[in-house]
Amino acid sequence: MIEETGARCAVIIVAAGSGQRLGHGMPKARVPLGGAPMLAHAVRGVVNAGLASQICIAVPAGDEELVELCHQLAEESGAGREVRWDVVDGGADRAASVRTALAVVMPGISSVLVHDAARPLTPAGVFDRVAAALRDGAKAVVPALAVVDTIKSVVPAELPATGAGVEKVAGTPARNRLRAVQTPQGFQLETLRRAHAHAGTLDADAAAGITDDAMLVEAIGEDVYVVQGSTHSLKITTPMDLLLAEAMLQGPLRPRWVEG
Ligand code: CTP
Ligand code: MG
Repeated sequence: MIEETGARCAVIIVAAGSGQRLGHGMPKARVPLGGAPMLAHAVRGVVNAGLASQICIAVPAGDEELVELCHQLAEESGAGREVRWDVVDGGADRAASVRTALAVVMPGISSVLVHDAARPLTPAGVFDRVAAALRDGAKAVVPALAVVDTIKSVVPAELPATGAGVEKVAGTPARNRLRAVQTPQGFQLETLRRAHAHAGTLDADAAAGITDDAMLVEAIGEDVYVVQGSTHSLKITTPMDLLLAEAMLQGPLRPRWVEG
């Protein structure tokens, strides 16, 4: 169901990464999870959330298999009448992939959610909370969890006796003020476009340090609001993460919207 308040939302799914750390020798979006490619879960989760007027998916350039999968998923969802689907070639890094998808956002869209295909099990409630904060006037919103580990910043160092290269602690931010940030991240379209235009002016080092869209919005001085994320929204990066996601699909943590 498309929201009827007049504020129309596009969801960008970035799926153009190569999946180096997972090490399956194929783009992560194609890696099977519970018998289906990871991207299929991510897309079904977006469809299930029911707030997109447009779904834009960035896949690795020239990946016909993923393009075909997207077309199948569009058909499965009964697309065409209510939701516009676009599949675009991603870029060299995540931010570039977001930009290629942003370029095809259709007229009339006022807000955008950017979601990682690498978070295939994100529950609808997270999409709802992000969209609700946008409706309540936020220009940028991230879902997040409190962190359980104590986090320290480090600098390169040498051990006193041997000179062996190690790291040493530079500081310990107060844990109760730290959050682990997830996707979908939500933005007013105009804000995200401005943030990415700013990103285009960064040098290579700074550009390499961009790990999410919200930090670009922070860089242009806009407030980024925080809503509750979900432990189900884990990012699949390493083989251990994939094992955990497989276990979730087989047990009581299986998302209700997963078929079968
Ligand atoms: N992504 C993208 N385009 C890129 C790089 C990343 O669309 N050029 C997407 C990934 O597909 C993923 C999300 O951004 O959904 C987060 O990236 P990450 O988890 O790092 O995925 P990969 O880059 O595929 O993994 P790795 O860094 O291990 O190669
Ligand atoms: Mg990556």
